[in-house]
Amino acid sequence: KNVLFVASECTPFVKTGGLADVIGSLPQSLKQYERMEVRVILPLYDEISEEWRNQMEYLASFNVPLGWRNQEVSIYTLEHNHILYYFIANDYYFTRKGVYGYYDDGERFVFFSRAVVEALAHIDFKPDIFHAHDWQAGMAVALVKIMQPVEHMKTVFTIHNIKYQGVMPLGTYDDFLQLPAEHIGGMEWNGMFNCLKSALFHADKITTVSPSYAEEIKDPYYSEGLHSILLERSADLVGVLNGIDTNEYNPLKDPSIPVKYRSSRARKKSNKIALQEKIGLPIDSEKPLYIIITRLVEQKGLHLVKHILDDFLQEDVQLAILGTGDEEFESFFAEAAHRYPEKLATILTFDEGLARQLYAGADFFVMPSKFEPCGLAQLIALQYKTVPIVRETGGLKDTIHPFNEITGEGNGFSFTNYNAHDLLSVLRYSLTIFNDPFQWSQLLKNVNKSQFSWKDSASDYANLYEEITSIYV
Ligand code: GLC
Repeated sequence: KNVLFVASECTPFVKTGGLADVIGSLPQSLKQYERMEVRVILPLYDEISEEWRNQMEYLASFNVPLGWRNQEVSIYTLEHNHILYYFIANDYYFTRKGVYGYYDDGERFVFFSRAVVEALAHIDFKPDIFHAHDWQAGMAVALVKIMQPVEHMKTVFTIHNIKYQGVMPLGTYDDFLQLPAEHIGGMEWNGMFNCLKSALFHADKITTVSPSYAEEIKDPYYSEGLHSILLERSADLVGVLNGIDTNEYNPLKDPSIPVKYRSSRARKKSNKIALQEKIGLPIDSEKPLYIIITRLVEQKGLHLVKHILDDFLQEDVQLAILGTGDEEFESFFAEAAHRYPEKLATILTFDEGLARQLYAGADFFVMPSKFEPCGLAQLIALQYKTVPIVRETGGLKDTIHPFNEITGEGNGFSFTNYNAHDLLSVLRYSLTIFNDPFQWSQLLKNVNKSQFSWKDSASDYANLYEEITSIYV
């Protein structure tokens, strides 16, 4: 099977979040299946470094009909780790700083989607499956369904986060797409032009990144307004849990951590000491160290942390927070770090190497998300033998099972309701387990055995591709 991935970010070229990790690692895993060829098509942002650009080869130039915004584009290719990548280059839309955050982001990715459809005629690859990810590639699903650029090509659309939908005035349809009026119904939602909804309406199959999230988004609390269409399409909606690249996140080989380890607590403690020194916390290898590594946004449950921070820091603990994001959280946690210099370190940057040093040095990883389609950070924490503390939602619920002292089962701690004091009591409970050598070593045993590689999930995708190409043709 030939599969074309369409997405707006992908490691190692350009990353703002977990989407990039998935697009960067899933094809690697899929290619181990016989007769499966996966290629990936992305925008060529300025953000993508010279080093990568120098390795790219020019393939073709063509016109993308886009109403009065008609554009010339060029397409480049690059092979990396045996996967072929295509990059869509256009000066007007993609020669800008950063990746997202422009007033015309909607238009930029409608353009990208339209360009991908046009590119199908210029690449030497005939996909059986057109697999698009998140709203930025959503319109492409609608367009290939309507325009049928490749015979018998089936479409899969994956929701990585339903909160972001790509919503624009309805006029965008006439201005840029210039399709017959009959198609507008599939693209419209609440009087607006909506890229994510367009994909949900047109895709042959819809997937999302965990089984629990697949259920949750049929409910108004999580659906961001889209539950009715998801209920209509529920027969074609499945949740497939993300994996991570376990080779990439491996404390035995990670070049950015001071002391390599497999599961040795003593070696992990040496990483703790190096970390405490680096981020300016008192050096004490026995002190329980909690970490939060995230974009500082509401989704990640930071209002709960904010609410109980003073109470939690009365305990004999240390906490380190790493990330950037909303001003509200940046200033709150920076200020709190001044009040608790012995207990709290706030580092307002995004630094991959430092993140890995935190995972390696910590005892607990805290992720109390309000919603979480899958979440990769808790899986990375497990790789580094750091105990996750999560809220039971989406992929967090599917991967972290609360420790049970009686049965000895469970690989972390969790709480159900989005409530700050529930978080506080689970944090306090984690501390009592930490201080109980028998229970703590049982918990760590379970953590050492928990691993979420792509192995299982890649086969779920392979089966899905098989199913839609055989049933519908
Ligand atoms: C988004 C979601 C996150 C998920 C990631 C990859 O970033 O918020 O939960 O893990 O996509 O699918």
